Amino acid sequence: MIYTVAVLTLLASSVFCQEAPKCCTVDQWEAKESQVNGIVPTGGQSQIINVGLTLHYDSTNQRVAAEETITTKGQTYDIHVIQDFAKKIQYNIIANNCTKTVIGSFEKACVPDNLDIDQFLCSLLGHDVMPRLMGNYYFGGKAQALPFTAYQMSVQGLQVQVAVTTTGCYPVEEIILGKFGTTDVSETFNYVNITDGIKDPSVFTPPASCNSGPVKYGVHLPTGSRILRGRSFLTL
Ligand SMILES: *[C@@H]1O[C@H](CO)[C@@H](O)[C@H](O)[C@H]1NC(C)=O
Ligand SMILES: *[C@@H]1O[C@H](CO)[C@@H](O)[C@H](O)[C@H]1NC(C)=O
Repeated sequence: MIYTVAVLTLLASSVFCQEAPKCCTVDQWEAKESQVNGIVPTGGQSQIINVGLTLHYDSTNQRVAAEETITTKGQTYDIHVIQDFAKKIQYNIIANNCTKTVIGSFEKACVPDNLDIDQFLCSLLGHDVMPRLMGNYYFGGKAQALPFTAYQMSVQGLQVQVAVTTTGCYPVEEIILGKFGTTDVSETFNYVNITDGIKDPSVFTPPASCNSGPVKYGVHLPTGSRILRGRSFLTL
């Protein structure tokens, strides 16, 4: 009996709750992105972190890079982040000073699908609740409309909204609300000026200062996206 339940649970978990993407972005793209992150640690000071970045996404070679300008508490930092998922290393370069951290596996930038299965069962089994369609909309006026599709889901207990262009699955916006650990977070990501392909692959090449020094386990600096690229919630 227990054995049967275990097998059924495993089956349900591995088959029914598996994510098949609703749509994925093209394999290589670049974008300008702006982030507004509001965080309130329990018992701590609230903080606004503004990030403007250029994002380079390359699923063909399993790597992501971003040139970021982070502004918080009146300070501005310029940082170049390279995530090399083939080597499982993230390089964080500030003023040619390089630190390296271990990262997980590459995840393609996709909106997952729910396969119309029992969401409640899957959530009981510890799976994220997959997207529900919020609706189809367009930006701008009717004559120059940009049609987009919005989804709502729950990921690691956080309330998430994702919008992608109805044609082509290009990211438009992500909104994340909820508690990450003991910190309340409210994050908005907007993507503009997306182009297909990688113009200059050297953005993925770490500088010589990254050749030495240890690879540490530690908190990653955030890159482009939370949902559409690697569903990890990491804040500064
Ligand atoms: C470079 O990194 C080292 C080690 O973390 C640190 O002590 C030093 O202050 C950093 N230098 C700059 C310019 O950020
Ligand atoms: C975004 O695209 C518009 C239209 O092509 C261009 O005028 C603008 O400079 C671009 N902005 C950035 C930050 O690249």
